[in-house]
Amino acid sequence: MKKLHFVNGKWSGQHLETINVYNPATQEVTGEVPKGGREEAANAIKAAHLVFPEWRGKTAYERAAYMQKLYLLMLEHKEELAHIMTTEMGKPIAEARGEVEYAASFLDWFAAEAKRMYGKTIPAHVPNKRLQVWKQPVGVVAAITPWNFPLAMLTRKMGPALAAGCPIVMKPSGETPLSAIRLMELCEEAEFPAGVVNLITGSSSAIGAEIMANEKVRKITFTGSTEVGKTLMRQGADQIKRLSLELGGHAPIVVLDDADVEKAVQGAAVSKFRNGGQTCICGNRIYVQSAIYETFISRFSEVVAKLKIGNGLEAGVDVGPLINQAGVEKVDKHVQDAVSRGASLMVGGEPVQDLGPCYYKPTVLKDVDHSMLIMKEETFGPVAPIQAFETDEEAAALANSSPYGLAAYVFTESHRRGIHLIENLEYGIVGWNDGAPSAAQAPFGGMKESGLGREGGEQGLEDFLETQYVSISV
Ligand code: SIN
Repeated sequence: MKKLHFVNGKWSGQHLETINVYNPATQEVTGEVPKGGREEAANAIKAAHLVFPEWRGKTAYERAAYMQKLYLLMLEHKEELAHIMTTEMGKPIAEARGEVEYAASFLDWFAAEAKRMYGKTIPAHVPNKRLQVWKQPVGVVAAITPWNFPLAMLTRKMGPALAAGCPIVMKPSGETPLSAIRLMELCEEAEFPAGVVNLITGSSSAIGAEIMANEKVRKITFTGSTEVGKTLMRQGADQIKRLSLELGGHAPIVVLDDADVEKAVQGAAVSKFRNGGQTCICGNRIYVQSAIYETFISRFSEVVAKLKIGNGLEAGVDVGPLINQAGVEKVDKHVQDAVSRGASLMVGGEPVQDLGPCYYKPTVLKDVDHSMLIMKEETFGPVAPIQAFETDEEAAALANSSPYGLAAYVFTESHRRGIHLIENLEYGIVGWNDGAPSAAQAPFGGMKESGLGREGGEQGLEDFLETQYVSISV
């Protein structure tokens, strides 16, 4: 059945051309959505703009109550939401359930944070003035989200926007609009005022063009590629639109020779193979100090060889299909390039045609180096390339040799070495003996070409607020 747009509290888009949504596990059509364009985007922005005074005028406690209601509805419908995500993008059902909880946690946490949106009083330099800093919502927000975390990337943007008092217009990825639409049905049930939450599907270029040209949109929050992020920055320049950009990553995992090897192996496996390696913060390059290089590789290969690949709906599956065939082709290109330049295959190294066109075996490559594509580009797939290093300084230099700076991982039992290394890493997020650092209450975002701003944590809310300085003469 064709799902619809949620604009101004109503379902619309019946008359529009339809786009099919495919299940990458089976290639079956799993749903249909309208192909919206500029007009639909403009309508959604207008609705958001009209309701802005009402939404910002509510107390933080009132806004939080709506958000809490949505949070509870998401948890109540966890199984259904997880099932939709698995069938539209392939992640194993256990991970999808985890994502529903993670996604809901942004609403819960920002609902509470709304009540802590403090301003400031500054001591005045003269007796007859009172100097204050007030916080104001930035205005209508437009969110553009990716397919790899269909729900969490929406709520990580909705949470702070709604808490701050900003209505939001969302454009989910064309690959994963179905869970987003189900989320809108829950928003309807939570009875947000019409226009506060809007969602349109369709042409990225047309919807993007309207969002960027429309003066009513004051802030863009985007998760996706660095290339698109740069385009949005250029397009936003004319109106000085506020931007939060969570862009590409190429995360290094550094394992020092005093690491607890088992902890490092498990942490690296979680970081690398979560979501089939299709995570902006997943480990993409593993550097292991020479003294434990062979031990680490042998144990890591054992763990990876046991990962079960298959349709994410089946029990016990660890790695589902990649999002599409282009994803498989990119992964295979990286593996073939590495092998042709001298890397050794320890595990995997090929697509699994018997399961369908979107599956790739979890793969471990040994003895990679920086001449190989896989060490320069984000792979976005289940491949772990491993390189040896000698000194901590060399590890930092290898880790930093990328234009990206989103996440890095360090495994060491030494506080001294860990602190020195991490202080030298140009990365916005670091997991120290931890392969899964994400949390709603923590600032998520990158340095260098990995983005601007932070999502989650108190910084996440700050990015949706304007600072207004008020000087009062008394
Ligand atoms: C991402 O891939 O950007 C999201 C990962 C996360 O939130 O942990």
